[in-house]
Amino acid sequence: MIRVPIVCFVCGLMHRTKRKRTKPNKRKPTNNKHHTFFQLTLYVQTEAGSKIHRQFRAAHEGHLPHAGLDATRASTGVVWCTERASEYGFLEEPDKWANLGQGAPEAEDGIDGSFLRPTSIDVSSAAREYGPTAGIKPMREAVAHLYNETHRKGKSSLYTWENVCIVPGGRSGLTRIAAVLGNAYVGFFIPDYTAYSEMLSLFKNFAAIPTPLSEADGYHIHPDKIATEIARGTSVILTSNPRNPTGRVVANPELAEIQDICRGRATLVSDEFYSGYNYTSNCDGSTISAAENVEDVDEDDVLIIDGLTKRFRLPGWRIAWILGPKEFIKAIGSCGSYLDGGANAPFQEAAIPMLEPSLVQKEMIALQRHFRDKRDYVVKRLRDMGFVIKYVPDSTFYLWLNLEGLPGPISDGLNFFQACLEEKVIVVPGIFFDLNPARRRDLFDSPCHHFVRFSYGPRMEVLELGCDGIERVVMKFKKLVN
Ligand SMILES: Cc1ncc(COP(=O)(O)O)c(C=O)c1O
Repeated sequence: MIRVPIVCFVCGLMHRTKRKRTKPNKRKPTNNKHHTFFQLTLYVQTEAGSKIHRQFRAAHEGHLPHAGLDATRASTGVVWCTERASEYGFLEEPDKWANLGQGAPEAEDGIDGSFLRPTSIDVSSAAREYGPTAGIKPMREAVAHLYNETHRKGKSSLYTWENVCIVPGGRSGLTRIAAVLGNAYVGFFIPDYTAYSEMLSLFKNFAAIPTPLSEADGYHIHPDKIATEIARGTSVILTSNPRNPTGRVVANPELAEIQDICRGRATLVSDEFYSGYNYTSNCDGSTISAAENVEDVDEDDVLIIDGLTKRFRLPGWRIAWILGPKEFIKAIGSCGSYLDGGANAPFQEAAIPMLEPSLVQKEMIALQRHFRDKRDYVVKRLRDMGFVIKYVPDSTFYLWLNLEGLPGPISDGLNFFQACLEEKVIVVPGIFFDLNPARRRDLFDSPCHHFVRFSYGPRMEVLELGCDGIERVVMKFKKLVN
């Protein structure tokens, strides 16, 4: 019998064991000295026992556990913020918190002049079936009618149902648009809506080109910026308007000028989810839309996206729409067959009566008055605390808050966010709006480093709670540095 020294892969000790055995040892080892060569060989053949295999796996992507899956794609800024807040107890007692992070409008009834939202809906037998992936025809007609009545009175080219695709929410609509983009440079602006970052990196056929906007300029998208983009070969321009997170809108005549520059040269993707939150016209209910300046609805490459989420205060319904030239709407409708399967039919049926133009006009008046008052309240509270707010936002329900005037330890978005969590307030650090699809920019170089987005979407009581919490944060740090 030959005995050889061997390091035991089970316990790491040096044992002497037999090289050959005619029969495997059937007895269970009573202590680690009894590991047999047979047992050790089996162990080496598993990964836990083989250091070299573990090293190989760690270094080669294709051999990682769950090869091919990338969990880092799962989280957007708002999700990350909610996860951090849950570490401070948010999920246990959400009612004690002011969530000014999520971009959601208050969904309750009770806003003066606003129609009561349905509390139950009828489900027709047709709505039990798969619906068309471009949406049901009566809903497509209702959207076309709303835009013709609101933005295209007296024009010869009008939208028809074939210019409208119904989609299951805004993000799904944006993804469908991304899916039909060809080989193109897609220009976008910083800061803008967080989800664009993921959407712009999902599909490989186009290249996303960022253009930072300047604070000194009120984050304005001037027509000459668009001209410069197009001159360098950009053939798709994507922007929210009114703009998330800065709360600024590009209205006519500049919007019309931008559309003239784009006509025949670039597609304008106009994300108008905040079109109803417009405070530039004394809360008369008018909405801002690129639909106003389109010349021929089938020729002008303008894709407009909006839905029930924000201005109808129904984020849970997941009903949104895209308007554009027939040919592209057909393609966007067809993409639903592999991307999302289409918007649910019962909620489309229930949405149709809400889109009656005179009802929408009244609703927009109620919405604008209510949200303008909330904006004025939070701007005053924050200014009283010492925040410098150079531009009072003229649209949306967001404040893009510059923190540079605050004490050093809370003068950047991430540290301010963390300090607010201690006081049960959630805001979103600015860096999430620094869309960085290629992940090339360092965190500290971000033009959004010293900002947070504050949402005054929630009810007034929540805003009061949130402002009280932020006031405590500011006082605490002012005392600490003095
Ligand atoms: C500019 C913009 N577009 C689209 C959306 C998406 O809306 P939805 O919740 O319907 O996906 C949002 C939501 O925050 C948004 O801010």
